[in-house]
Amino acid sequence: MTRQISASVYSVGALNPNLRVFDIVMRTDYGTSYNAYLIRGEKTALVETCHNSFFEEFLENIRAVCDPGEIDYIILNHTEPDHSGALRRLTECAPQAEIIASRAAAIYLRAITNLPDLRVRAVGDGETLDLGAGKTLRFINAPFLHWPDSMFTWFEAEGVLFSCDFLGSHYCEPRMIDTAITYPNAYQSALKNYFDAIFGPFKPYVLKGLEKIAGLDIAVCANSHGPVLTKGGQLQNALDCYRTWAQPQKNDACTIPIFYCTAYGHTARTAEAIREGILSVKPEAKVELFNIIDEDMADLGARLMGSNAFLVGSPTINKDAVPPVWQLLSHIDAINIQKRPAAVFGSYGWSGEAVPALCTRLAQLKCKVFGEGLKVNFVPSEEELAAAVSFGKEFAESL
Ligand SMILES: Cc1cc2nc3c(=O)[nH]c(=O)nc-3n(C[C@H](O)[C@H](O)[C@H](O)COP(=O)(O)O)c2cc1C
Ligand SMILES: [Fe+2]
Ligand SMILES: [Fe+2]
Repeated sequence: MTRQISASVYSVGALNPNLRVFDIVMRTDYGTSYNAYLIRGEKTALVETCHNSFFEEFLENIRAVCDPGEIDYIILNHTEPDHSGALRRLTECAPQAEIIASRAAAIYLRAITNLPDLRVRAVGDGETLDLGAGKTLRFINAPFLHWPDSMFTWFEAEGVLFSCDFLGSHYCEPRMIDTAITYPNAYQSALKNYFDAIFGPFKPYVLKGLEKIAGLDIAVCANSHGPVLTKGGQLQNALDCYRTWAQPQKNDACTIPIFYCTAYGHTARTAEAIREGILSVKPEAKVELFNIIDEDMADLGARLMGSNAFLVGSPTINKDAVPPVWQLLSHIDAINIQKRPAAVFGSYGWSGEAVPALCTRLAQLKCKVFGEGLKVNFVPSEEELAAAVSFGKEFAESL
């Protein structure tokens, strides 16, 4: 479906209402859309393409506005294949179109299209493109929102910001405009899920992105997924939410959660002794114990990421740490965990692989791993419990 969103901008993207998983890790309960836009001046520019599997629908949408052969420029604000997947086939229908993208994107596009000689005009922050008839586009670098290649395109004359994934959502309805959203609560949860999954690791860049567009009088935010946002519609809400969600988290007290699994209580008993040791050094610290299998994994992942330091404990079962502990570690945001102090402990019977295996993984994630961890043999003895208290003390002193 094609829709005009301002005097010279047409939405020509494709809807994918049935999508339920995006990029392997994101649930998309409300489907998504691959938004793309045609801007008609004396020259014609296309902003973004779409997922390769939606090429036919996309081409049909373009044809409803113009002959694809009339496209002079194809602007890619980002090269992830949900934006660039249809590029190669589209260039066959628009052979004279010049591709415009950021410097990083120009490199990626050659590897994505497997056309080493692909001609791409790399544009830097603030560069402009004149479409004639008083219509000029300005490119705004927006690195890490959410790839190194990301940029925004600003069409001042009509107040249209092509914001790429920024301010987008995996939310699909027949009329993709914020003033016609049928289920506002569902949309709001999709906006938040999208932010968490895509921008959660890049919060400082989100704040920079917001700064960069703060001075623009945006009438329409033509994003790459979900309903287009308008001034007077959901735009201000989305901007306010992004600002709130991107604030750095501040813990009132030093927060040192201890996550563990235990079959017979031995690792749990060790965790309690470590806690006692930490509190003897840092009585004001917030040191909560979490038996991993009793809790919601995503919630534990968030607690781990929000910690000042953390500990994980696992018994050794069949020569390894247990799956729920590995599952918790899979919730770690590898971009933001670097340098975080972490310690590992666990009870074992004979071979004791769990503790060194977890230490290795946390070191690989660039955590600051405390020593070699603490192992106790079967039921922790009085001496082993005293060693666990000392382990907690020393870990706390190292912070
Ligand atoms: C099914 C099973 C497999 C085990 N495999 C190992 C193993 O490969 N190596 C080892 O050192 N201990 C092994 N153990 C022993 C446990 O690590 C030991 O009993 C430990 O004290 C359990 O601690 P927990 O009560 O905190 O779970 C195994 C225990 C069970 C129940
Ligand atoms: Fe993306
Ligand atoms: Fe995207």
